[in-house]
Amino acid sequence: MYYDYFKGGAEDQYSLDENIKGFQRIMLRPRVLLDVKNINMSTNLLGYDLHSPIIVAPTGSHKLAHPEGEIATARAAASCNSIMVLSFSSTCTLEEVASSCNAIRFFQLYVYRRRDVTESIVKRAERSGFKAIVLTVDTPRLGRREADIKNKMIIPKVANYELLSVDINSKDGSNLEAFADETFDPSLSWKDIQWLKSITALPILLKGVLTGEDARKAVEAGVSGIIVSNHGARQLDYSPAPISVVEEVVQAVSEAIPVLLDGGVRRGTDVFKALALGAKAVMIGRPVVFGLAAQGGNGVRKVIEMLNGELELTMALAGCSTVKEITRSHVQTLGGRL
Ligand code: FNR
Repeated sequence: MYYDYFKGGAEDQYSLDENIKGFQRIMLRPRVLLDVKNINMSTNLLGYDLHSPIIVAPTGSHKLAHPEGEIATARAAASCNSIMVLSFSSTCTLEEVASSCNAIRFFQLYVYRRRDVTESIVKRAERSGFKAIVLTVDTPRLGRREADIKNKMIIPKVANYELLSVDINSKDGSNLEAFADETFDPSLSWKDIQWLKSITALPILLKGVLTGEDARKAVEAGVSGIIVSNHGARQLDYSPAPISVVEEVVQAVSEAIPVLLDGGVRRGTDVFKALALGAKAVMIGRPVVFGLAAQGGNGVRKVIEMLNGELELTMALAGCSTVKEITRSHVQTLGGRL
């Protein structure tokens, strides 16, 4: 049941498949006879230096994968000089995660129906030293994840949200939808970005933007970054693979703010392709959770190290010594289609 929860997507899972296939439609254009003796993958995101452009996406309920939960994930990300985006739906509190290691951390937020609760969580994240708010905007309602319904999946208690009254012991069916109904505010709109900005000084990144139109609105709203994402294909089925629309978003924001991408990143070549199409960094979701389930924090570290190693090799074989040297000319799309 938990494996299905971590692995699954919405409805026909067409987008889940597309998230991978989108990368497969892109080929590389390697350049030769460039000195690639020293490869430097480092980058800077919102003023923070990173070993590589690979960071940890927010995913909920880590204790379903491993008893140490998000604490193990945070420590592993820290040991790789990466950034963990802690999901609001975490099974360790944000304070527990903050005190477990002093790495750079971002906090993923859903705006709840109860704005007072949302505000108090944002303040807690600030007090605990989180460096940015990642506001997820693709979840006015929960996508229909049929495996969870069939399995009567019960999500565990959200550690950060004591007030939640959803029955976490229900035996009648999945509590996911009831959870979502009680929490996510479907009336959330662009004007609420101003409200969020009024209650926090932290930079805000919008997660779940998939069009140039919304990217332009995000810049107008004054956010500090965009994450091109279809929520790992768990929300709207037939939403496009993020890799197929990242260039549109990058062009729309014309370097005003950094654009990140997540969804289907499984190889160093995928990271390279995302960077070539203009992404500043990528986030990884399921591979981290699977690493955690397999070997706890060690498994998460291995996943990040494996992707780092693959990216480094890809850069060398494609003739790029630094991430800045990865450009649009290093990729070609099959049949001109992304
Ligand atoms: C997610 N994702 C997610 N996103 C978010 O903003 N808040 C959340 O609490 C969660 N929870 C969550 C749980 C699980 C089990 C998965 C798989 C995903 C989406 C996540 O941040 C990210 O967008 C995708 O996981 C990226 O795709 P890949 O790397 O899993 O293909």
